[in-house]
Amino acid sequence: MLKTLDDLLKEGVSGRTVLVRADLNVPLDGDRITDDGRVRAAVPGIAKLAEAGARVVVTAHLGRPKGKPDPAFSLAPAAERLGELLEQSVVLAADVVSEGAKSTVAGLSDGQVALLENVRFDPRETSKDDQERGEFARELAALVGPGAAFVSDGFGVVHRKQASVYDVARELPAYAGGLVLSEVEVLRKLTADDVDRPYAVVLGGSKVSDKLAVIEALLPKVDKLLVGGGMCFTFLAAQGYSVGGSLLEEDMVDTCKGLLAEAGEKLVLPQDVVVADTFAADAQTRTVAADAIPDEWLGLDIGPRTVEAFAEVLGEARTVFWNGPMGVFEMAPFAAGTRGVAEAIGKSEAFSVVGGGDSAAAVRQLGLAEDSFSHISTGGGASLEFLEGKTLPGIDVLERS
Ligand code: 3PG
Repeated sequence: MLKTLDDLLKEGVSGRTVLVRADLNVPLDGDRITDDGRVRAAVPGIAKLAEAGARVVVTAHLGRPKGKPDPAFSLAPAAERLGELLEQSVVLAADVVSEGAKSTVAGLSDGQVALLENVRFDPRETSKDDQERGEFARELAALVGPGAAFVSDGFGVVHRKQASVYDVARELPAYAGGLVLSEVEVLRKLTADDVDRPYAVVLGGSKVSDKLAVIEALLPKVDKLLVGGGMCFTFLAAQGYSVGGSLLEEDMVDTCKGLLAEAGEKLVLPQDVVVADTFAADAQTRTVAADAIPDEWLGLDIGPRTVEAFAEVLGEARTVFWNGPMGVFEMAPFAAGTRGVAEAIGKSEAFSVVGGGDSAAAVRQLGLAEDSFSHISTGGGASLEFLEGKTLPGIDVLERS
């Protein structure tokens, strides 16, 4: 039986220490957070606990450090932003479960919040060895002491069988946070048999190989699958077109041929693309038909005719899921495709879900109104794996506990 944060609040948390797993894996430029969406999404759960008098110990990861402390992956920027949003100071412990963490936790008063340093600074967090992860999870549980509880609210990591996501939920009374619950509720609508149709999915991002499983899972369910981003060039190559210097996964061409044959008219590829003579914001650019990409030039965005065609499908859809940018939106000359698709989804009456760190970041960085989408997921891999129908260890463990 899945217990929730609300159940925990009813039990009473005043004076108790609560360990919260959040996903604070935000994009950084140096030590500046370029998209704080995940920090904002973590705030309501933490705030509820602090307001109810809990001593809140947050654990999270940033990036993929090599299992040892590395200042480039410190959670310091996230601690600062969390403090601003919570309007109270958030102490960042000097380490994960050692002396720094112990003294930080010991110094907490009721209603205060501390953040442990990047949990992936300890190699046991991501270990494949159950014993090692279990031992680390017991250290995390011991850190928060007897009587403590665990709230799992890092939706973006629930697909990871890692100590602070999975094993610790077996060491402490475990509860699902509001973010995890709301994400699951939304994504369930996208996998329901009675999904509102037409159902359109837009996929972008760089690699077909990353999206293969979700394409295979979604193809039988959707009415249209619109493909843009770097991954579209492997599909264009599978159609027999030359893609110049564009991103190409040679070893996926045959797979893409198979998918095109299976999908028929469901799968829609770009008709035109924006090409550049080099991968740079000040490159020379042209818009060309998808079957006329000049040698040496690289496709870095979908073209305006494609945006129009995609927008027409999206305008008629009743359910939309979008994952992955349509081009290199971080560079202004290649942002129009992502912007156009995002605006078309925003305008449509459809139940619309934006999934994936990059597409969510694109919505915010391009200054688009977040409330024009029904839901912006904090999960990248997690939302894709959910749609693929995979068991998510971080949720499974809560359901079993
Ligand atoms: C994400 O960015 O999708 C999550 O924070 C998980 O990060 P990971 O892919 O490094 O496990």
